[in-house]
Amino acid sequence: MKTALLPLSLVALLSCFTIAYAQKAPVDGSLTANPVYGKNCAKCHGKTAEGRTFGGPSLANAKTAAASTDDLRGIITNGKGHMPKFTGKLTAEEIDTLVQQIQALNKK
Ligand code: HEC
Repeated sequence: MKTALLPLSLVALLSCFTIAYAQKAPVDGSLTANPVYGKNCAKCHGKTAEGRTFGGPSLANAKTAAASTDDLRGIITNGKGHMPKFTGKLTAEEIDTLVQQIQALNKK
């Protein structure tokens, strides 16, 4: 009877991949719609990325707008002050997506 479980676990496995894939393609491409942001950053930088909780600053301000791509990537990868480092927690692609979305946020 064990073989009857095989198709079932394949379905379960497939839906895991689907969810993981969906997380890489945020609905409207914006930072606050990115599940990676919601899970890792929103608790400090706020659901709207305007800052507040736990001392996380707004991510839409002149200082962030002036930061270079490398600066932003460095801050997210290695942390800064009370900002935790995300190396090992997020992939390079996830960090790059966040950087692009932070920059898009500051172009408005
Ligand atoms: C534990 C709270 C916390 C979490 C979680 C957090 N941050 Fe931060 N973040 C901070 C604080 C505090 C600073 C200010 C650091 C400083 O300048 O000393 C900061 C600074 C930044 C900056 C630089 C802003 C600027 O204008 O200099 C960026 C960009 C940033 N965070 C992005 C992120 C991203 C993206 C995530 C999720 C992957 C994240 N942060 C998660 C607390 C947090």
